[in-house]
Amino acid sequence: MNAAPPARLVSVEGLHKVYTTRHGVLKALDGVSFQIAPGETLALVGESGCGKSTLASALLGFASFDAGTIAIDGDEVTARSKWTKMPPRRDVGVVFQNPQSSLDPKMKVRSIIGEPLNTVGMRGEAVTRRAGELLSQVGLGPEYLHRYPHQLSGGQMQRVAIARALALEPRLLILDEPTAALDVSVQAQILKLLKALRAKTNVSYLFITHDLGVVDYIAHRVAVMYLGRIVESGPVEEVFAHPRHPYTQALLDAVPVIDPSRRRQPAPLDGEVPSPLNRPPGCAFAPRCRRATSTCRASEPDFCEDGPQRAYLCFHPL
Ligand SMILES: Nc1ncnc2c1ncn2[C@@H]1O[C@H](COP(=O)(O)OP(=O)(O)OP(=O)(O)O)[C@@H](O)[C@H]1O
Ligand SMILES: [Mg+2]
Repeated sequence: MNAAPPARLVSVEGLHKVYTTRHGVLKALDGVSFQIAPGETLALVGESGCGKSTLASALLGFASFDAGTIAIDGDEVTARSKWTKMPPRRDVGVVFQNPQSSLDPKMKVRSIIGEPLNTVGMRGEAVTRRAGELLSQVGLGPEYLHRYPHQLSGGQMQRVAIARALALEPRLLILDEPTAALDVSVQAQILKLLKALRAKTNVSYLFITHDLGVVDYIAHRVAVMYLGRIVESGPVEEVFAHPRHPYTQALLDAVPVIDPSRRRQPAPLDGEVPSPLNRPPGCAFAPRCRRATSTCRASEPDFCEDGPQRAYLCFHPL
């Protein structure tokens, strides 16, 4: 008897996005595909500019894309037009890196959390009650309802941003570097909170981060991006223990190790990410890769499956 396939909450297939800039055409997403199951956390990692936030905007319907499909809970996502004021999707929430810029400084916490509630017709006392409940879910007391963002610490602001994102009980939360602007100890508290919320509500997370320690702590699966493509994906323990793509290996080698007896041979990532305006032919990682051969510089690798859950994009995997 075949086991039932895991139900998919998010399904992204062959997503392409180009930006036309003054300097030419920039491929920000170049055939990105992945799935996220209910209650699952997929971490998206990769150097600055590889397309992580572009992908998040497409999932949120904030940005158009040129080819491919996105489905969330069976519904196709299309970009929201600037002209028709479509309400945001109820089933997707988002938390950005910097709460200072994502929370309106002129609004009290009650109104900030109340905004999404207003979009579904909730008013007055009901908003206050629900906003209070949401605050308690993120570990803040009702007294915070009447504060302005500048009266909160960075960690408290991020808790308010999470409460707002959860207001309409989304099935997917997109977290774009949610702890990168916080002190390490506050980071740990927010990550713990996100884990607890996930266990309670079965919400799925797309967790964008540069920090592989954070991935290890919170994610079930990881997708490694390089210049608009996912170059390796799989369960976190497997990918971190046995990376197949040399880029994943290089990211892991770049993580500082505190214990000096465990210090790895330095294998830094040589060179810069090539400009997406000027993609090298063949594998985009080849110019920085020690394993690269003439094949890598001439043609693009196809995805190789490595077991049911793992895939990588490389001619000469580790
Ligand atoms: N509106 C835009 N117009 C033109 N180019 C853009 C636009 N937004 C992003 N880009 C470019 O698209 C590429 C991907 O950008 P994106 O913001 O998705 O990267 P990122 O992985 O989120 O980076 P970071 O880790 O720095 O946040 C970059 O080369 C960026 O310069
Ligand atoms: Mg980004």
